[in-house]
Amino acid sequence: MSGKVHVMDHPLVAHKLTILRDKDTSVKDFREIVSEIGMLITYEATRDLPLTTKEVETPICRTIAPTLKGKKFAVVPILRAGLGLVDGVLRMVPSARVGHIGMFRDEETLEPHVYFCKMPKDIAERDIMIVDPMLATGGSAEAAITEMKKRGCKNIKLMVLLAAPEGVERIQKAHPDVDIYCGAVDDHLNEHGYIVPGLGDAGDRIFGTK
Ligand code: URA
Repeated sequence: MSGKVHVMDHPLVAHKLTILRDKDTSVKDFREIVSEIGMLITYEATRDLPLTTKEVETPICRTIAPTLKGKKFAVVPILRAGLGLVDGVLRMVPSARVGHIGMFRDEETLEPHVYFCKMPKDIAERDIMIVDPMLATGGSAEAAITEMKKRGCKNIKLMVLLAAPEGVERIQKAHPDVDIYCGAVDDHLNEHGYIVPGLGDAGDRIFGTK
């Protein structure tokens, strides 16, 4: 069975994605909205976090109320564009640890290779959220998931703003245990590997490097 694709069906996400798609959106607004959508997707992607209860005293009475069980969680941005989503995840899960993974593409084979991977020591015990704004061919995400599995991680999710059907299919085939959380699934990839209609180069738009 392949992993589920959770497409955010929410007017706030749809509205904010449209602002990101607009080529005239400023770097400042783009960055802020990437972070906001990151928060909204995190809300959905953490639905299965386990709860326990604790006793609290309200101004009115004592009561037993739900509280997070404290499952260990880590967000793993794929460098560089994934950095844009970290803040949104951390605002929702402030105790999360952050691991970083960087990849380059072999010019001959076109396959991604990991050049940097710095993870918390106990990464294998943590639930992992890999974040990257664009799931295009799926090559980097596939390699990042493989790397995390090599390090013993078992419970892995992938968060993206936009996905191409080609990337979704690749992840579902290579890592059927990984669910994808995304703002929208777009139409297709063009001959340059860009998502259509997409939003252009997410890294350039987050960091203002174009
Ligand atoms: N990476 C991007 O930043 N944009 C795309 O459309 C595809 C990959």
